[in-house]
Amino acid sequence: MNEELDFESLRTGAGIFEVLSKAKALEREGKTILHFEIGQPDFHTPSHVKDAAKQALDDNFTGYVPAAGIRGLREAIQDEIEQTRGFKPSLEQILITPGANPGIYFTLRAIVNKHADEVIFSDPSFPTYGAVLNYLGCAKKPIPLKEENKFRLDPVDIEANISKNTKVVIINSPMNPTGSVMKEDEINRVAELAEEHEFYLLTDEIYSKMTYDQKFHSPSTRDCTKERTVILDGFSKAYNMTGWRLGYAVAPEPIMDRMSLLISTTVSCVASFIQRAAIPALTGPQTDLHNNMKAFRLRRDTIVEGLNSIPGFSCLTPQGAFYTFPNIKQTGMSSKELADFLLTEAGVACLPGTIFGEHGEGYLRFSYATDVSIIQQAIVQVKDALA
Ligand SMILES: Cc1ncc(COP(=O)(O)O)c(C=O)c1O
Repeated sequence: MNEELDFESLRTGAGIFEVLSKAKALEREGKTILHFEIGQPDFHTPSHVKDAAKQALDDNFTGYVPAAGIRGLREAIQDEIEQTRGFKPSLEQILITPGANPGIYFTLRAIVNKHADEVIFSDPSFPTYGAVLNYLGCAKKPIPLKEENKFRLDPVDIEANISKNTKVVIINSPMNPTGSVMKEDEINRVAELAEEHEFYLLTDEIYSKMTYDQKFHSPSTRDCTKERTVILDGFSKAYNMTGWRLGYAVAPEPIMDRMSLLISTTVSCVASFIQRAAIPALTGPQTDLHNNMKAFRLRRDTIVEGLNSIPGFSCLTPQGAFYTFPNIKQTGMSSKELADFLLTEAGVACLPGTIFGEHGEGYLRFSYATDVSIIQQAIVQVKDALA
């Protein structure tokens, strides 16, 4: 895989930041923009986590640490996995990464090594998947998600796309951009398929703590990440720590060994004091998370009701994360046209569904990580602009 890299093929992952910079440019011109484009909680990092970071700095815990991460944090993750997924991985199976996003690259880089290798993932999906697969030059097998199936990836569709070259299947539940959560039997079937057809399963569980009525399930419970499942999770979303750049992977040891080498040659290690500060995020009080999820539920209900009241829009109720993915086909505009129109005419920044794949056409993505009053205001402005 040594062909010249087409850097343009990576731009699929940059669409979100392009919208953000357009919105910022309008703000510099004096316009007021209501923001629904970026997938970032508007809450602050819990104070006990910030205190732990200050303490780690005061303790001069500022040197290099092992590439795989500090033992204390890896032990906390071991317990966390036991409590939330029901099995205890070995410490050697846990790697601290600078966010889940680079974890996607490290995982795929460690597993995929031939052009013929095929990777199955959903369309729409988090843009990094497609961008990394473009970079690796392997075969992409996107599976269109169906609104009739509430945007859940259907194991039947996965099975229909499996070939002898299938190397990895990526799942993301709760999901960005649709907020869908796969059911237990669907998750179990995907894990079963991975075993039957001997492919790897990359399960991006960054929103695992962010569900409403439907429970989170992980396919990792089948092989306990010993054989073929790689879990990616992190601190950005559940603990409001997007800028800290901290995530982790739990993977079979041979894969972990490769990922660890990639970390040590590219980033050396994740910042030591940040790792230490993250321990109480997992082991300390979870009050902030519970309160935030209550707030997110109210915001979700407000935005879903609001979007459904706009002529030409129809919107399912998301079961996890903090995104809605309304169908806007009846407006007669494309996703991009409507997103541009709403930004300039309604002062509302949201994303065209096509940023997440071609089957995102006909949809917009709203990240409702913002106040209920702003959500209500945005709905009024969208209605006025479209009237
Ligand atoms: C599905 C998914 N995976 C991974 C990430 C990246 O998270 P992190 O901030 O830990 O890199 C995001 C962020 O939006 C996401 O939506």
